[in-house]
Amino acid sequence: MYLKHYEIDEQHKKILMIINNLSDLFAEKKHQDSDEISKIIKKLADYAIYHFQTEEKYFQDFRYEKAAEHIAVHNQYRLKIDEWQRNYNEKKDDKVFLEISNFLKEWWIWHINNNDREYVPLLKANGLK
Ligand SMILES: [Fe+2]
Repeated sequence: MYLKHYEIDEQHKKILMIINNLSDLFAEKKHQDSDEISKIIKKLADYAIYHFQTEEKYFQDFRYEKAAEHIAVHNQYRLKIDEWQRNYNEKKDDKVFLEISNFLKEWWIWHINNNDREYVPLLKANGLK
């Protein structure tokens, strides 16, 4: 098995792309189409779960010392995104939409640049490119 660090980078790019899709929809005033927004929020939630599983598998394989701490951050996000999904699906209004979209941008940019950066030396030490 030849593992590659860029697998995670690609996943991060995809997540940021989905978040940008959400912002674009809003900017184009297509957010009135609440079903479309719900679909993208769900797509993002599902993809994030898949992405966390990828990271957490590496943590386990390489016995990451900060695994528990990092997984706790993922779990907080899992709860939060469920809450946002329910909230949006119930209310479907612009205010909720903006809160979600701002939260997503801030959360992912912070997480990628801080939490995720910390495990890069471990992946490299284990031969990931
Ligand atoms: Fe992470």
